[in-house]
Amino acid sequence: MRIGILTSGGDCPGINATIRGVCKKAILHYGMEVIGIHSGFQGLMTKETEPFTITSLSGLLTQGGTILGTSREKPFKRGGLMEGVDKPALIMKNIKELGLDCLVCIGGNGTQKTTARFVEMGVNIVAIPKTIDNDIWGTDFSFGFDTAVSIATDAIDRLHFTASSHKRVMVIEVMGHNAGWIALYAGMAGGGDVILIPEIPYSIHNVGELILNRLKQGKPYSIVVVAEGIPTDGRKRAGEYIAQEIEYETGIETRETVLGYIQRGGSPTPFDRNLATRMGGHAADLIASGQFGRMIALRGNEISSIPLAEVAGKLKLVTEDNDLVVQGRQMGVCFG
Ligand code: F6P
Repeated sequence: MRIGILTSGGDCPGINATIRGVCKKAILHYGMEVIGIHSGFQGLMTKETEPFTITSLSGLLTQGGTILGTSREKPFKRGGLMEGVDKPALIMKNIKELGLDCLVCIGGNGTQKTTARFVEMGVNIVAIPKTIDNDIWGTDFSFGFDTAVSIATDAIDRLHFTASSHKRVMVIEVMGHNAGWIALYAGMAGGGDVILIPEIPYSIHNVGELILNRLKQGKPYSIVVVAEGIPTDGRKRAGEYIAQEIEYETGIETRETVLGYIQRGGSPTPFDRNLATRMGGHAADLIASGQFGRMIALRGNEISSIPLAEVAGKLKLVTEDNDLVVQGRQMGVCFG
């Protein structure tokens, strides 16, 4: 069995631990051959590959980014590299020429959509969910999320000191275009007073009222956590927009911090390392038992898998009945 492995979409802590998990088990336990494909689906177009040996997998568990490199190449969409070429056909030809019996695709929502199309075309694929946003349908958690939440929580903890010393409102913008999971988890873990996410509509008046009420209660500072994807005036970033609106609404000095790519870089937490290792190992098991067209998933504390066709095109969003939202609301956190 000759496996090709690729990483696609934004980088995320735990990708290298996953590569290690898949490859070590495939090589040591199942005696398979593993070929690394560079830069996501782009590498399947250009045939940029490297054979993996046990020694090339050393030191990966703790490393951020992806040793394979990544791209947002979407072969079924127009644009990108080799515009005008029939990319899916080229990839099918290259998979054959490289002698690959199957592919392991580590990626987010876009990747799951692409892999589902290749599965329909007859390619043997096992997919592994990867995103700090935690918005992939079908899995309770994806690796990278816990690390991003830890980094964002640490940032909120630090902002608390400046907020209380200067009696200011501190707004922190975290990642999440469509889904507010990072804002919700880090906001609650960091004791945020206001948490604004794309899934829950907000009124700046409500936000201002909560901040002024806190002032009346002798709490002259507040922490506001916003996901980057909340609605704004369309001209400013979410954090800047909310900070300005709060200052107009309350008259309290307000500052914003955009956490940005810091959330995505660096070493994965122990939780993410172990999740990545488990998901990688289970991907090797699926290959060994000939179960293709599936995405690895974490359900409760069990690793299982679901058909890619079920996952593709869906998003896992925060709902109003999420326990952290319910508990937060009942404790006085303003969600908008
Ligand atoms: O991987 C998802 C994500 O982290 C989003 O939260 C973020 O908006 C996006 O990537 C930005 O990534 P890039 O600038 O690399 O396209």
